[in-house]
Amino acid sequence: MCGIVGYIGERKAVPILIEGLSALEYRGYDSAGLAMVGDEQLHVHKVKGKVDALRERIKSERLDGTVGIAHTRWATHGGPSEPNAHPHTDHGNAIAVVHNGIIENYAAIKERLKRNGVSFKSETDTEVLAQLIGKYYTDGDLVKAVTKALSDIEGTFGIAVIARDNPDLLIGARRGSPLVVGIGEDEYLLGSDTSAIVAHTDKVIYLKDGHLATLTRNGYSTLTLDNRPASHKVHTLEYGAEALAKGGFDHFMLKEIFEQPETIQNAMRGRLLTEEGTARLDGLNLVMTELRRINRIIFVACGTSWHAALCGEYLMEDLAGIPVEVEYASEFRYRNPIIDSKTLVFVISQSGETADTLAALREAAHKGATVLGICNVVGSSIARETHGGVYLHAGPEIGVASTKAFTSQLTVLSLLTLLMGRMRRISHDDGMAIAKGLDRIPSQVRKILKQNDYIAEIAAIYSRHNNFLYLGRSYNYPVALEGALKLKEISYVHAEGYPAAEMKHGPIALIDTNMPSVVVALKDSVYEKVISNMEEIRARSGKIIAIATEGDKTIQKHADHVVYIPKTLPVLTPLLAVIPLQLLAYHIAAIRKCEIDQPRNLAKSVTVE
Ligand code: M6R
Repeated sequence: MCGIVGYIGERKAVPILIEGLSALEYRGYDSAGLAMVGDEQLHVHKVKGKVDALRERIKSERLDGTVGIAHTRWATHGGPSEPNAHPHTDHGNAIAVVHNGIIENYAAIKERLKRNGVSFKSETDTEVLAQLIGKYYTDGDLVKAVTKALSDIEGTFGIAVIARDNPDLLIGARRGSPLVVGIGEDEYLLGSDTSAIVAHTDKVIYLKDGHLATLTRNGYSTLTLDNRPASHKVHTLEYGAEALAKGGFDHFMLKEIFEQPETIQNAMRGRLLTEEGTARLDGLNLVMTELRRINRIIFVACGTSWHAALCGEYLMEDLAGIPVEVEYASEFRYRNPIIDSKTLVFVISQSGETADTLAALREAAHKGATVLGICNVVGSSIARETHGGVYLHAGPEIGVASTKAFTSQLTVLSLLTLLMGRMRRISHDDGMAIAKGLDRIPSQVRKILKQNDYIAEIAAIYSRHNNFLYLGRSYNYPVALEGALKLKEISYVHAEGYPAAEMKHGPIALIDTNMPSVVVALKDSVYEKVISNMEEIRARSGKIIAIATEGDKTIQKHADHVVYIPKTLPVLTPLLAVIPLQLLAYHIAAIRKCEIDQPRNLAKSVTVE
């Protein structure tokens, strides 16, 4: 995915564009660029590398124009390089375009344009769009040229367009990729998400799929891509610019880990009914009859959200007695999944923009399923296309490695289980016990976070190891997967998550003094079994970091290091057990001097297949 920002107004565009790019950099960071109209010229500057490199490149340029577009890239077609960086321009250098998405038929269009004498400067699919708009821009009607060019395009796009001879117009359009319009005072912005906008206004329009926005200094309008007036709704953002600052932490990831007592609380606020032993989820009000009627659930997600879904399976089957399947969105969309009238599909996504999850949603809806969403980003494509759903209210998650969104997803899944379980087999007393357990989670997370320094010491001991095994069982098997993913993505250390008992079926061959294991070994129904697995590791000289239940002294005999977490109900333990694993990964990556918030090759949300 990439980040797009656009500005038109009375102020100089470039500082606003650069600031917007910095806020969007988590979306992609292999190259950056901007275009601005000033002195009847189209000024384009691009660099390979991060936004800071672009800032450096333009620092001695005079760039005073008040309309411009900018882009931070996560490469898809064409490697990271200056020519491949956006904005892209047409043959006559009259049009500049930034794009997020993929143009599937770009090769055929490129050949056609080449045959007509157009020469290309980059290997990207986006340049094809710039060239097409330039070709159709013959009578000064930029909107017509853009819509005509877009009608030739197959694939997905969120774009921003400006023209050299039209400094009073900024155009945004989308199909498949997100685009938000910011409404300021005598100024308007475009952003691929609200983080590019929030410093300037809290009034936004989430542009509908298949729509286009025209922004001038005097106003704005929205159209369909076939040029008919379209309706839109103005929303007020629920967070301010401070949510995008590190707030004294070295990295967003650490800040987000430390926010979890509040974000978990936010996910429960007004929803957890402790005395009734149930939950109230207003976003599901319209589908209450379906919730009572269904006899099967499919959770669909990717990455960390998939791990949360796996926890959801354990919760839902164990407590609510509803059979659950958990699917990778990327697999689900190309299979022929069986969905009948009693199947409910839940898509889970922090960003609400993950291309595979969105496609899975559409596939399920196409098959007639009721599709519900669990999303963090308000107004995201998934949130808009589902028949109902629950927001996480975790605030913007900037660190590429998901942390607070995961625990918020677990919280919402617990609430959902309470709600659906109480319609079925959870008794009032059991419901109350779970609700009370949930209510205590934020303060218990706070207690775990106090061990940050201790976990950093453990990280220092193991920071040079290049292979790790993460083991957990039952409710904490998904937690082992999540702990391993966190370590892999931010420290580039190989880590495998496994169900503890599966270890003896293969991975045990890897164990030696150089392969430490991180084992979630809590006082629950599988405790003794997990201890046996730990002994199997120690018998082969493997080192063990154990996550254990407060008060369990015995475990010290079986592990080299122990991090304790407070007691809670077994079903709620993932909410606590994952916190030390997030901190361990963070500190190992910090010691290894990795780019924690922007790990190589990754982007915050993957809006391409
Ligand atoms: O925005 P989503 O929740 O749909 O994103 C899914 C995955 O791409 C995401 O969880 C990814 O695995 C994270 N980098 C994990 O930290």
